[in-house]
Amino acid sequence: MKQQLKSLIDIFRYKPSDYQFLNKEIERIYKIIPTDFGGGCSRQKGLLMSLLISEMNLKATVDIGVYRGRSLFPQAIAHNSFSNGVVYGVDPYSNEAAIQNDRPDLKKALDNFVDETNFNDIYDFVKNLVKKEEFQDSCKLVREKSIDAAVFFKENNLLFDLIHIDGNHDTSFVLKDVEHYLPLLKEKGFIVLDDISWESVKPAYNILKKQINLVDELINESNDFALFSKGLNRKEQKHTLKIFRQVRK
Ligand SMILES: C[S@@+](CC[C@H](N)C(=O)[O-])C[C@H]1O[C@@H](n2cnc3c(N)ncnc32)[C@H](O)[C@@H]1O
Repeated sequence: MKQQLKSLIDIFRYKPSDYQFLNKEIERIYKIIPTDFGGGCSRQKGLLMSLLISEMNLKATVDIGVYRGRSLFPQAIAHNSFSNGVVYGVDPYSNEAAIQNDRPDLKKALDNFVDETNFNDIYDFVKNLVKKEEFQDSCKLVREKSIDAAVFFKENNLLFDLIHIDGNHDTSFVLKDVEHYLPLLKEKGFIVLDDISWESVKPAYNILKKQINLVDELINESNDFALFSKGLNRKEQKHTLKIFRQVRK
């Protein structure tokens, strides 16, 4: 009887873990932001960034290449519910900036996508969703090219705990993102680099691998990214690996 009563009390005390909460919230927001040709952060990558924010108490993160917000909103959710921090979403939302030349095999499809996309509408969609979700304090949109936004961040002494690089994938742009944003990473911090199996992204991947620590990477039909860390102690490194293992499932 005593045992039954204890089980009943445990049921009423039940509180979902950060993982369960974030997983559910990401599932909810992804129903509003479906994947399409222009963007499609996976549940795993969204969960990884949001769990790093909640469990490591990250206060400032930046999302380079927002598009419809599949990588932005999981971060905003985690800041809003756990760290009380902010994600800066950097994207110029312009047809000219979206042109990519380093994938000859995809060039036609990429050009068609740019020609057919109304980036003003996508910007408005993201801006309105930030408002609707009441994320104004945890999510700031910066409608600029990443290198221009980096100048703004530097001038305002803004450093980041996590940087997600998923803007223009041509080599010169990804290299510039690494060059301008690595100095904006705090002493301890993370970089998530997307599409690491693209030839055009590999030079940036190799530079990061030389300069900071590669935690792990996930490449399968819905994922193609690496997580790097800098300045973590042993305990933090172990915790990071545990988070990565958790999202792999
Ligand atoms: C692959 S999409 C991003 C997908 C998004 N992270 C997601 O998970 O759905 C690339 C985005 O990078 C943006 N972009 C292009 N050039 C950029 C630049 N110089 N700086 C920042 N973003 C850029 C494009 O407008 C586009 O929205």
